[in-house]
Amino acid sequence: MSKKLFIETLGCAMNVRDSEHMIAELNAREGYELTTDAREADLILINTCSVREKPVHKLFSELGVFKRLKKADAKIGVCGCTASHLGKEIIKRAPYVNFVLGARNVSKIGDIIHKDKAVEVEIDYDESQFAFKDFRATAYKAYINISIGCDKQCTFCIVPKTRGDEISIPVDLIVGEARRAVENGAKEVFLLGQNVNNYGRRFSGEQEKVNFSELLRRVSGIEGLERIRFTSPHPLHMDDEFIEEFARNPKICKSMHMPLQSGSTEILKAMKRGYSKEWFLNRAAKLREMVPNVSISTDIIVAFPGESDEDFAQTMEVLSAVRFEQVFSFKYSPRPHTEAEAFTNAVDSEVASSRLHTLQAHHDSILDEISLTNKGNIVEVYFEELRNDGYIAGRTDNNIGVKVKGSEEWLGKIARVKITEVSRTVQYGEIIA
Ligand code: SAH
Ligand code: F3S
Repeated sequence: MSKKLFIETLGCAMNVRDSEHMIAELNAREGYELTTDAREADLILINTCSVREKPVHKLFSELGVFKRLKKADAKIGVCGCTASHLGKEIIKRAPYVNFVLGARNVSKIGDIIHKDKAVEVEIDYDESQFAFKDFRATAYKAYINISIGCDKQCTFCIVPKTRGDEISIPVDLIVGEARRAVENGAKEVFLLGQNVNNYGRRFSGEQEKVNFSELLRRVSGIEGLERIRFTSPHPLHMDDEFIEEFARNPKICKSMHMPLQSGSTEILKAMKRGYSKEWFLNRAAKLREMVPNVSISTDIIVAFPGESDEDFAQTMEVLSAVRFEQVFSFKYSPRPHTEAEAFTNAVDSEVASSRLHTLQAHHDSILDEISLTNKGNIVEVYFEELRNDGYIAGRTDNNIGVKVKGSEEWLGKIARVKITEVSRTVQYGEIIA
């Protein structure tokens, strides 16, 4: 009987891809098969997130649950960003954990499972040229890492401390991976990095120097590939060449993530984001002008230390000006090893909650207006998921979630759909061709 692996993934798309890499390595080298039932697993992995405090608490509560339900001889491993920043502390707090593997050490998974109480969290380990075995949770969409780490030093963010310095993955590895995914049925690739439009600034060893716009051109040359998405670009690096390539290249999906964080130039300075409110508005306006059907999503942190009512009003102003199609908003959460952790001008927590609520309510009203304009439209949807309520789900090129009644024959296909019913988060329609 094959050995069974249960894996729980918290956090961002990069973690999802790291989990796929670990599954692939464990399958190819050790013969593990995935299970969705932790009780029958021989190995339980939690791939953790540490970007805010909440997912760190979640790790320790989840560990307690797995300890109770696991088989007597099953091993538990903690991987990912919290593994990087807490290291051996995790085994101190939860002595039944068998090993700890940091977010920059994913390729060591095949070895570490044989070393009891091992902690591998080297922050300058370089796996940018490691050719991982292939595994994908879905055949239709392929996540592909294009860089590791992050070179920015945003004062609120723990990621540079958990994923280390930024190194770009060689272009031929990326294009080769995309080509294999397409051969295996994917029409869409999703390029991943903490700062994708900084691609090409640093490689390890002698590599062909290629910037992000050129990488996009190379990937879009793959025959059979129809859609390219990427996340996250940084507003600072949204130069004209990048926006023009985005607008011009028909394979690039017209959905852009522009993480604002704050609309106040003063707060952006304290965050060390490197751009002003005016620069952000200028880039968003250029995008809307060059790509009329673009949808723009963003991340916003409210109540960063020192944020005044006036600063928050600036964020609300940007929200009204850009009319984002999607907003991920968070209360500031102090993180260890960051500059902002030492800032003493914290915002009162009730004020923080109230600002988050005000922001989300304002965005909901914008979304109500935007979604109404979609009713009756004819859109192209790439179907990726069969739901158990008789619907199939997919996305438009500009990232609107669409559901229609249908069966699996549509999976992996692009169809024209007439939108018949709209809501803030999902639209319903009928296939017309
Ligand atoms: N490079 C990524 C950032 C990854 S972190 C990007 O630019 O999208 C994802 C998001 O989490 C950030 O954009 C930010 O909005 C949020 N975040 C990061 N650190 C945070 C903190 N200390 N408190 C609250 N939100 C935070
Ligand atoms: Fe974090 Fe800023 Fe990098 S948000 S991941 S340090 S771009």
